[in-house]
Amino acid sequence: MAVETISLEADAAEYSRRDVPRDIAGMSAEIRELARKRNAVILAHNYQVPEVQDVADYVGDSLGLSRQAAATPSDLIVFCGVHFMAETAVILSPKKRVLIPDLAAGCSLAATINAEQLAAWKAEFPDAVVVSYVNTTAEVKALSDYCCTSGNAERVIRAIPEDREILFLPDMFLGTYLEKVTGRKMHVWPGECHVHAGIRPADLDRARAEHGDADLLVHPECGCASQCMYFKASGDIDADRTHILSTEGMVKHAQQYPTRSFVVATELGIMHRLAKEAPQGRFYAASERAICRYMKKITLEKLLISLRDDVFEVKVPEDVADRARGAIQRMVEL
Ligand code: 13P
Ligand code: SF4
Repeated sequence: MAVETISLEADAAEYSRRDVPRDIAGMSAEIRELARKRNAVILAHNYQVPEVQDVADYVGDSLGLSRQAAATPSDLIVFCGVHFMAETAVILSPKKRVLIPDLAAGCSLAATINAEQLAAWKAEFPDAVVVSYVNTTAEVKALSDYCCTSGNAERVIRAIPEDREILFLPDMFLGTYLEKVTGRKMHVWPGECHVHAGIRPADLDRARAEHGDADLLVHPECGCASQCMYFKASGDIDADRTHILSTEGMVKHAQQYPTRSFVVATELGIMHRLAKEAPQGRFYAASERAICRYMKKITLEKLLISLRDDVFEVKVPEDVADRARGAIQRMVEL
């Protein structure tokens, strides 16, 4: 599958020039009123723009959002995140309707493998257990035994019997990280997220030089995650202050040590959530270019239109959803 070339510099520059809505309070009130009338729940990922996070019922990481989607009593879910996350909500709540405010909210990592490629890979290793990271399409999940997120990937790998071969996809940095922490050798798909792969070891070196006393919070999809593990193992950095965490794990860590400073290596949308949940903390981005153009497709305006005009419904063919559900349910339960 062709993967488009993306410039992180250009995306960061565009984001810094973005039009922040002038009447955030008025639009947010309208959104809340529409959500009430339509018995809708608004779910937002930690990478969403601040005003979308602020109007949502629930803000969280992929795992938390999946759990919310599975448990909500609402008739309608409006998913402010990327397409594969909305698909996961459809699969977990087949009787509900799921809307996404912009269908172009894709994911460069999910685009690195399709169902045909996975089928061919499985044919090479017919006895292997297939573990897919949640950043995959519903068709890919339908061919997987387990699904995982950054929040529970280690637990999922440890739950697989030692004598089974594992195909892990699609993120190579997360795969390498998991091999190191679990001591398990796996076959790892060479996919990457353009935002996290763009956070390089040199970014970490610079951040450590500038903020020596800060805790390092690193998302396992980052290009610097393996270096971070190496630093930890070699005693080059304080192992107690270096953490490879999901986005929600970062929030929990900052709440636990509310007055510390933190170098944060992930997409910059998380900074709003961190500042809100740990207001006394000082947060520094490992890379100012870490902007996900797909997450930023969702705006307050589009969220309002989505609720008002009932667009855009995310659908997953029933047979695909039925085959993907087992893998996702195992993820939510673990
Ligand atoms: P989390 O599951 O940690 O929220 O990460 C999701 C994602 O898309 C990372 O880029
Ligand atoms: Fe996908 Fe990367 Fe964006 Fe996450 S940050 S949604 S993995 S492109």
